[in-house]
Amino acid sequence: MQRILEEAKKISEEITGWRRHLHEIPELGLETPKTAAYIVQELKKMGAEDIREHIGGWGVSALVKGEKPGKTLGIRADCDALPIKEETGLPFASKNGLMHACGHDAHAAMALGAAKLLLASKAELAGTVKFIFQPAEENVQGAKAMIDDGVMENPHVDALIGLHTGCLWKEIGPGEIGVRFGSMMAAVDRFVVTFKGKGGHGATPHLAVDPVTMTATAVLELQTILSRELSPLDSAVLTIGRIEGGRAFNIIAENCVIEGTVRTLNPTTRAFVEERIRTVASRVAEGMRGDAEVAYEAGPPALINNADFTRKFQAFATGLAGAEKVKEIGEPTMGGEDVAYFLEMVPGTFFVHGGCNPEKGQVYPHHNPKFDLDEETFPLGTALFAGFALTWQN
Ligand code: NI
Repeated sequence: MQRILEEAKKISEEITGWRRHLHEIPELGLETPKTAAYIVQELKKMGAEDIREHIGGWGVSALVKGEKPGKTLGIRADCDALPIKEETGLPFASKNGLMHACGHDAHAAMALGAAKLLLASKAELAGTVKFIFQPAEENVQGAKAMIDDGVMENPHVDALIGLHTGCLWKEIGPGEIGVRFGSMMAAVDRFVVTFKGKGGHGATPHLAVDPVTMTATAVLELQTILSRELSPLDSAVLTIGRIEGGRAFNIIAENCVIEGTVRTLNPTTRAFVEERIRTVASRVAEGMRGDAEVAYEAGPPALINNADFTRKFQAFATGLAGAEKVKEIGEPTMGGEDVAYFLEMVPGTFFVHGGCNPEKGQVYPHHNPKFDLDEETFPLGTALFAGFALTWQN
């Protein structure tokens, strides 16, 4: 497998070129027409097959069909940027007021590199590789939009891999690979509770029903779902980020609204917390002569890496880069990643590619206006994608 890394290094200038071009034209959310057009142009140039555009908006897919029979592996690369004004001073810095400050430009470039290598290795490739270039990871809408538009079918994707580059996990240094078994990132849900009372004069509370009191009680009571009802060894977050009600010091409000997020690492806990938020909010309101209306919006599920598949990837990565470069990630984060929608459907793994090199001044965190990556680490990402596609069915 060292060979594939050597081949990736041979096309490093091209990978860097793709990344730099994408870096100059960052786009937001689901609206990534220039990014999609450029990726399609480059896929056509290299001879990728069955290139499909406009999947769930500006999503793109393309195939590399091996000459040996086999299953289909999905390789997912997100490619959207952020509303940040770049301050890196790089010659290829964005000038449009948006910025690839999370490294998704590199994800797309590394995947393009893998497509190029696999197109040259079709005789050895078993089955098919479907490249999935996904917009709107940052607002977690892109994966679902592409899935709803059929990206996982024709041909059916049997398993999927994806990566995140950069320094999101401090323990994964430049040129290192982070793998994680099981839950890696959280389900990201949003809820809104409207406490409904009966408005009145601040001097006559007995003639009104006070939604502010209900809200104050519920804000504290909701935390007991985590502290008193979940196993202390299970992880969950419930944050109320917005609270709004009332207009004047001497008026009892009609309504009071809270809005928050729930983060969980497994589907059972997720369903439990949702059910308990509904019950606790309603009971608190009823206990105080009011009502609560609960809206619960499920975002991406928890990102759960399939254990057998991850073991296979870990063994492959160790063979490619050496055992000292492959590290197991100790703890999941309560942040979210919409690659989880894909990994909920099929086995697969999402891994970390160490892409920031402090020795080159890349010390700024993701989503910072000075965020930058070490381009010398890109061939490794390309080789991980391409090499795994060549060997995962062995
Ligand atoms: Ni990101």
